[in-house]
Amino acid sequence: MQAFEFYSPTKILFGASTEAQAGQQITAYGGSRVVVVYGGASAVKSGLLERVLRSLDEAGLAYECVGGVQPNPKLSLAYEGVKRALSFGADFVLAIGGGSVIDTAKAIADGAATPEFDLWDDFWLKKHPLPGSLPVGVVLTIPAAGSESSDSAVLTNDETLEKRGLSSPFHRPRFAIMNPELTFTLPRYQVTCGIVDIMMHTMDRYFNPVTTNELTDEIAEGLLRNTIRNGRRVMEHPGDYQAMSELMWAGSLSHNGLTGLGNKPDFAPHQLGHELSAMFDVAHGASLSAIWDSWAKYCVHTNPARFAQFAENVWGLDPSGKEPVTLAMEGIEAVRQFFRSLQMPICLSQLDCGVQSESTLEDLAYRCTFRNTRTIGSFQVLNYDDILAIYRLANF
Ligand code: NZQ
Ligand code: ZN
Repeated sequence: MQAFEFYSPTKILFGASTEAQAGQQITAYGGSRVVVVYGGASAVKSGLLERVLRSLDEAGLAYECVGGVQPNPKLSLAYEGVKRALSFGADFVLAIGGGSVIDTAKAIADGAATPEFDLWDDFWLKKHPLPGSLPVGVVLTIPAAGSESSDSAVLTNDETLEKRGLSSPFHRPRFAIMNPELTFTLPRYQVTCGIVDIMMHTMDRYFNPVTTNELTDEIAEGLLRNTIRNGRRVMEHPGDYQAMSELMWAGSLSHNGLTGLGNKPDFAPHQLGHELSAMFDVAHGASLSAIWDSWAKYCVHTNPARFAQFAENVWGLDPSGKEPVTLAMEGIEAVRQFFRSLQMPICLSQLDCGVQSESTLEDLAYRCTFRNTRTIGSFQVLNYDDILAIYRLANF
């Protein structure tokens, strides 16, 4: 087994009505003046925001609300939140929402703890390590990004249209409240985007150059089987508490590091997808399903046996009498068919942006290499030419 570190300190409060505990959890973690961050409309409309604020009132906490976070969250709102947090004298940030809200809350916490630095130039562009942050708590409303227990936060600079992530141990939330009932107001499209993202957090770790950590592999394969099964179940029965519970827990475990211990995570499909979201503001999950098939077909020959293992252990495909590459291609097809059954895009024409010109594909590839300063991926290391080839493959 390869050596690894595992640090996942987020306290999980899982189950019905757990959002009523928000106030007492913040108090337990030392918060007294709280910035409450939420999205566009759903938390207000469902009454969730009001219920959580009541819990803060009951705990005697002072709070300042910062709403209006949009999907693919924008740097400008994070700056605004930092200003508000500083003038309010905040000592805790509470996110009520999904990945976009949580990542904005993490950024506000970073900026409020380090007013002498610039969020983007210093931290997101990695000129300076993040020296600290305010504590963050989460009330999760969508199983998807896994930010409720991850060490990362992803923002889009709305001036330059760069979408970048920042990983730091300070980004692990103190607690995450997960009530599967809160997901029942989700539009179907957001549920399917979430299912794709949960799978991709595990697959982007599973396809890597290290394949000797058997337990890591088996956790990943089990998580994927569970997500596929329960993903199908929630499509048939949208208000299924059991199935949503499984997805919600899988979403956190898929991105807290557990499914990649001892591996060298690849995450190339995420990087390819981020450029599509940055340029066209497409939903994160959709950007991933639109690119994965092309990434997989481009990279499968690097290690067909790994894809064959995936086909057999995740999709239950019969290996008998087949060459690894044949089984591998059947596994890729199984993913494609599953994404199609969710009505998720599997190429650019099925994204809102549509098919792109060659010069736009070149721009995407250029941006994905951070202007020719990096490669991406570990399963197969991809340079500008590889990245461009994958965008071309997906451009139909
Ligand atoms: O804004 P509101 O009205 O709340 O609507 C949101 C939003 O339109 C809606 N929604 C959320 N919960 C709802 C609900 N609607 C009805 N009922 C509910 N219970 O869903 C829409 C999408 O929300 P968003 O937060 O964007 O979804 P998601 O959790 O998929 O987050 C995506 C963002 O997270 C980033 C992505 O890049 C993207 O920006 N990621 C963050 C990661 C991390 N920090 O570790 C890792 C991921 O790979 C990902 O990159
Ligand atoms: Zn993701």
